[in-house]
Parts: sequence; structure tokens; C-alpha cells
Amino acid sequence: MKNDDILNQMSNKGPAYTDAKPVPGQDLDAAVLTSFKSIVAARRSIRIFDGVALPEKTMESILADTTLSPSSSNLQPWEFYWIRDPEKKQAAAEACLGQPAAKTAGDLLALVARPDLWDTNRLKLIDIMTQGGKAELPKPVNIYYKKLIPRLMATDPFGVQNLFRRILFSVLGLTKVMVRSPKNKGDHRVWAHTQVALAAQTLMLSIAAHGYDSCPMGGFDEVRMKKILNLPRGAEVTMMMAVGNRKPEGLYGPQIRLPQADVVHKV
Ligand SMILES: Cc1cc2nc3c(=O)[nH]c(=O)nc-3n(C[C@H](O)[C@H](O)[C@H](O)COP(=O)(O)O)c2cc1C
Repeated sequence: MKNDDILNQMSNKGPAYTDAKPVPGQDLDAAVLTSFKSIVAARRSIRIFDGVALPEKTMESILADTTLSPSSSNLQPWEFYWIRDPEKKQAAAEACLGQPAAKTAGDLLALVARPDLWDTNRLKLIDIMTQGGKAELPKPVNIYYKKLIPRLMATDPFGVQNLFRRILFSVLGLTKVMVRSPKNKGDHRVWAHTQVALAAQTLMLSIAAHGYDSCPMGGFDEVRMKKILNLPRGAEVTMMMAVGNRKPEGLYGPQIRLPQADVVHKV
């Protein structure tokens, strides 16, 4: 059973989106843990869907969950393209190398990293937090957003800022605990893709919680995808996401994982 009906019964601003958030260990009962574990177990990569799009309200609810994902300095260097235009959707599915998951998906999303937007988003955040300049920021927050972040993130066409940081990190790092990146454009890209990957996981778990399936896809032609979505130079597609109702044959096999002992290290 899909959760579309439950969603319709919920008010537009469900509990997750109010300021009074539940506190883990205090407001969440055992049923929440059971449900969460069921959702984690239920999420599988599905390669064949029935092609039916999700109700708009359901997708909007899923995307609202997705934007609650954490991000470094809360700079949210991500964009989510819900490809609704049928021609674009078909072209995007082809750019996903024609993968069956993309071709049969009810909905197709592009998860886009925007390393280039760190400063734009920083200014937007300051504007939100100060209610358009009307309120003062607490001093540490003010210093963090107005001085520290620009010092850590600023770049220039000749890489002078990056060189400066590289020297600063190595010299100060000899005697002090230091952050070590970003030192170059590659670090900025990794930084942004990291945030998008976290959002991708929230997205997939939310899709499952709403009663639908997904398939994350790293196999796509990024040059073509950027053209289809009309993305600017600084944007990069982290991954594509197929969403929809599974067909039984769309689950290709059992879920296989490496032994825990190989990947979990108690140090
Ligand atoms: C970043 C990323 C890229 C992926 N790319 C593809 C892809 O292009 N095509 C595909 O069919 N599955 C893709 N997958 C799905 C994985 O193959 C799948 O997660 C893995 O086999 C484990 O299966 P499970 O998701 O059902 O647990 C991708 C998964 C991730 C996280």
C-alpha cells in the first residue's frame, strides 16, 4: 500500500517541518525504530518500473524530506531536477545510456552538485537568518559566515587563494590541528558531491517510506545530461535517480553485502 492517502490526511506542514522537532531518545518511540529499519531494508535498486508517475503531492513531500539533509556549513550546494517534460525525460533516459531503470521510471530526477554556488548560498543564508538584514546574528555565527567561510572557500581564476591555503594548511598544520581542504578545484567538487550523495540517501529512504522504489544511477553521459537540463558550466550531475512502482522482475537478485568484519573496524 502506498502512503499517498496518509499524506493526503496530513496537514501541509507535517510534524517534520515545524520548528518543534522531535528529539531522538525522547519523543520517538520504539515503533519509529522498527519502521526505520523496515524502510532501510525495503530500499532496493529496482531496474524495471511500471512507468507510472508518482502523485505530484507525494513527489513534493519526498523532495521536502530530501532538502532536510545535512550539508557542510549548511551551504546546501545541491539542486534537484525533477524532469517532468516528456521529451526531456526521454532524452535524459537515453543519456542514462538507455538503462531500463531510466527508461521505465515513472519519474526521473537529476541530483546536481553546485560547488559554484557556495557564496551565493552563503549570502542567501545570511539573508534568511537576519530576516533580510533586520536582525543581528550571534557573534560566532556572524564570524563564521562572514569571515571564516569566505576564507576557507574563496577561489580566484589564478588559484592564488588555493595556493595561499595550501601553504597555510601545511605550515600551521605542523604544530596545530588544521582542516586540510579545500586546497584546489577538485576539493570543491568533492565537497559538493559529498553533500549531494547525502541528500541522495535521504531521497531514496523517503521514496521507500512513501511506498515507492528507486534506482540511483551513476551510469550516464554527463555532457549530454547537462545540455538536456540546460545546466551552467559550474554545475555537475552527481547521479540520476529513477523513481516509481517496481515490476516484480525489476528486482534483479538478493541484496549482497561484504561481511561486516571487512568494513566495520573497531579502533
Ligand atoms: C552512486 C551509485 C551509482 C549507481 N549506478 C547505477 C547504475 O548506473 N545503474 C544501475 O542499474 N544501478 C546503479 N546503482 C545501484 C547499485 O548497483 C546498487 O545500489 C547495488 O548493487 C546494491 O543493491 P541495492 O541498492 O539493491 O542494495 C548505483 C548505486 C549508487 C549508490
